[in-house]
Order: sequence, then structure tokens, then C-alpha cells
Amino acid sequence: MAGGKFITFEGGEGSGKSTQAQRLAAFVGVAGIEVVLTREPGGTPFAEQVRDLVLSGTTAKHGATAEALLFFAARADHVETLIRPALASGKWVICDRFTDSTRVYQGVAGSVPADVIEMLNRVAAGATQPDLTLILDIDAAAGLARATERREAKSSAGADPFEQRDLSFHQRLRQGYLGVAGADPGRCRVIDATGTPDAVQQRVHEAVLGRFGAHLSGKAR
Ligand SMILES: Nc1ncnc2c1ncn2[C@@H]1O[C@H](COP(=O)(O)OP(=O)(O)OP(=O)(O)O)[C@@H](O)[C@H]1O
Ligand SMILES: [Mg+2]
Repeated sequence: MAGGKFITFEGGEGSGKSTQAQRLAAFVGVAGIEVVLTREPGGTPFAEQVRDLVLSGTTAKHGATAEALLFFAARADHVETLIRPALASGKWVICDRFTDSTRVYQGVAGSVPADVIEMLNRVAAGATQPDLTLILDIDAAAGLARATERREAKSSAGADPFEQRDLSFHQRLRQGYLGVAGADPGRCRVIDATGTPDAVQQRVHEAVLGRFGAHLSGKAR
């Protein structure tokens, strides 16, 4: 059956998801495959509006359930209007965060029961689930330090509401992601996210080639 591959990047704050998603998109593009690089929350005009709302900090006080529903509203639109059509036309979709972020942030580290999240995931994304998820694993404090450095370098606004949570929250995120990987080993690969961006990229490429090498022609190797 024709159809593209759906690859997601997951991991805590500053683990390198956005950096590695961009690099992987370039790598797959060199192999002559059409790639859509997207992100969550976001990826469509409506979902980007939800992103602004959630990251503005005004939603946290309404609790993790309301927040999870907003993420899934954004995800439903993202899947229906961007991800599913792209995959159906044979493009590969590389997405910076997807449902595992909701499982971990609002589920494991929040208060939303896992069965509720799984039900909402079926409603919002249906059969459109990642073929491969790369979980970038790094000590929570080290990831946060990278995120802080990035913000200072760009002199951008303050930390977003998730970044501002205490270290124990971020440690729960890390454990949550390792739990997701353990529960779904066929889909997930845990990537050591320490070291230089090039070193991490090498590990990402190995994981992708290990899984989809046959689809990536000589040029990409
Ligand atoms: N391997 C690395 N070593 C050192 N710095 C890195 C590495 N990878 C990325 N960075 C830098 O760390 C910061 C965070 O990286 P990036 O934005 O890719 O992480 P992220 O996982 O997308 O973060 P967030 O969860 O906040 O979106 C950036 O300034 C980036 O340039
Ligand atoms: Mg990012």
C-alpha cells in the first residue's frame, strides 16, 4: 500500500526535538522523498491559535483536562487537514511532538487518566498514528538549561507555562516518556540526546535507517 511514513519527535523541554526534526527533514528530503515538517500544538491556522492560547499561560488554571481537550481539538484539525492528506499522497510527515506529549504532560505528569487520553486520541487521530517515534532522552535539568540558554540568546519572552514548572515535574516527564517507550517498543526508539547536535543527529539517522532504510535510497546514506 502506498503512503508516507509518519515520524514524531518527543522528549522534555530543550531535549533537541525542533533541532533534530529539522535535520531529519533535510536528510529524508535528500533521499528524494517529499517531506512535511510540522509541529504540535500547531501545524494548521486553527491549531496555531490553540497553541498561542495554551502557551499564553491562561489555560493552566483550568486544569489538565481542559488543556488536554484543547490539545486534542488542535490535533484533530492538524490530522484531518494536514497530516492524513500528506501521508495519503506518499509524503513523509515529521512532527515535533504528538499524542505522546499529551500522554506524558497531561497524563503521567498531570492528572488526566490514561484511558481518557487514549479515547480522545482515537477520536482525534483515529488510525493516523506515528510509524516511528524518536524519544530524545536527557537529564531534565540539562534540557532545561539548553532551553534557558536558547531563550537568552534570542532575548525572547519568558519561559512558557510548562517550562516554568519545577524540576520534579520535568523529572516526571522524563520517566513518563521512558514509560511510553517501554509500553510501545515497536513504535518508539529512545535516543540518547546528550552530546553535540551532530552526535544526536547520527543516532537519529541510525534509528531511522534501521527502521526505514529500504525506503531511503543511496543518496541518503
Ligand atoms: N545536542 C545539543 N547540544 C547542545 N545544545 C543543543 C543541542 N541540541 C539542541 N541544542 C540547543 O538547545 C536549545 C533547545 O533545542 P531545541 O529547541 O531543538 O529543543 P526542543 O526539544 O525543541 O525544546 P522545546 O521543548 O522547548 O521545544 C536550542 O538553543 C538548541 O540550539
Ligand atoms: Mg521545540
